[in-house]
Amino acid sequence: MNELDSLVVQAQALFAQSATPADLENAKAQFLGKAGRITELMKGMASLSVDEKKSRGAAINLAKQAIEAALNARRQALADAELDAQLKAEALDVSLPGRTHAGGGLHPVSLTLERIEAIFGSMGFDVAQGPEIETDWFNFTALNTPEDHPARSMHDTFYVEGGYLLRTHTSPMQIRHAVQHVKRYKTQLDAGQGMPEIRVIAPGRTYRVDSDATHSPMFHQCEGLWIGENVSFKDLKVVFTDFCRTFFESDDLTLRFRPSFFPFTEPSAEIDIQFASGPLAGRWLEVAGSGQVHPNVVRNMGLDPERFIGFAFGMGPDRLTMLRYGVNDLRLFFDGDIRFLRQFQ
Ligand code: DAH
Repeated sequence: MNELDSLVVQAQALFAQSATPADLENAKAQFLGKAGRITELMKGMASLSVDEKKSRGAAINLAKQAIEAALNARRQALADAELDAQLKAEALDVSLPGRTHAGGGLHPVSLTLERIEAIFGSMGFDVAQGPEIETDWFNFTALNTPEDHPARSMHDTFYVEGGYLLRTHTSPMQIRHAVQHVKRYKTQLDAGQGMPEIRVIAPGRTYRVDSDATHSPMFHQCEGLWIGENVSFKDLKVVFTDFCRTFFESDDLTLRFRPSFFPFTEPSAEIDIQFASGPLAGRWLEVAGSGQVHPNVVRNMGLDPERFIGFAFGMGPDRLTMLRYGVNDLRLFFDGDIRFLRQFQ
């Protein structure tokens, strides 16, 4: 290897070792700077003949070009590496999901209530709401359950100062809603004309001194009432059967009206349902109380029981939610555990 070739090799090696642009510029100075090796070689040509200058000059120029090429290649490589490092350091993971507000959702029991309202709404029922703090009159007496009536003992509740109590069922809404309705059509009724039928459901919170896996001191009920001049038990059967089949999205479902007692209905029946298939197949499950509205209750609505007749029912949306989703502990609904609740979104 001649002197010039070895100079080029040295330069290439030194450039390759330069880890930063500053190192590289220092290395360059050793070869191409004012006092660099190439410059020295050029100066050394002064004593040569014209012919020698020509060939020597051309050779030095080639070496210079090779060194410059090596320098430029290394400059580019360092610049690329720097850009690479910068891109890595500032990397933005565009595949990360964006930060959003967590979407809220409806409580499973609220989902059931919405469902109940939609289904009965489609059958022409209004939706009414009433107070959770009730009077003794609406909660008991007007519903044919006078003081000392033994049925009151099944409805132990929380009493509030001033003679009020936390309602033990949504049945007081039967009276409240009917009284409003009768007031609205008073003129027609007084003139011996009819009135539009009362067709209403009243969902809401209810309270009893009760607490275990299937009872909570606060729970939900949904009352139903249909009063007219020609409403029969058959209508109750049709309406409730239709409701259950729509609610559970199953025609493979049988209803049983089991004789029972409630002070505000006569006759009274518990409504049981039975699925033909699925995990609950074959078992009778109680879902509601019901019956023909007692004449005393019709009277307390401000209507003549000789003329107006109808049925009522009261169901448990919590229970319906448990059956629909296969939940076996009612308390899960009211613990506020987000891991449980999230499953219904
Ligand atoms: N209120 C009753 C209860 O809480 C349920 C009930 C039974 C409601 C029969 C009714 C009915 O409207 O007709 O146990």
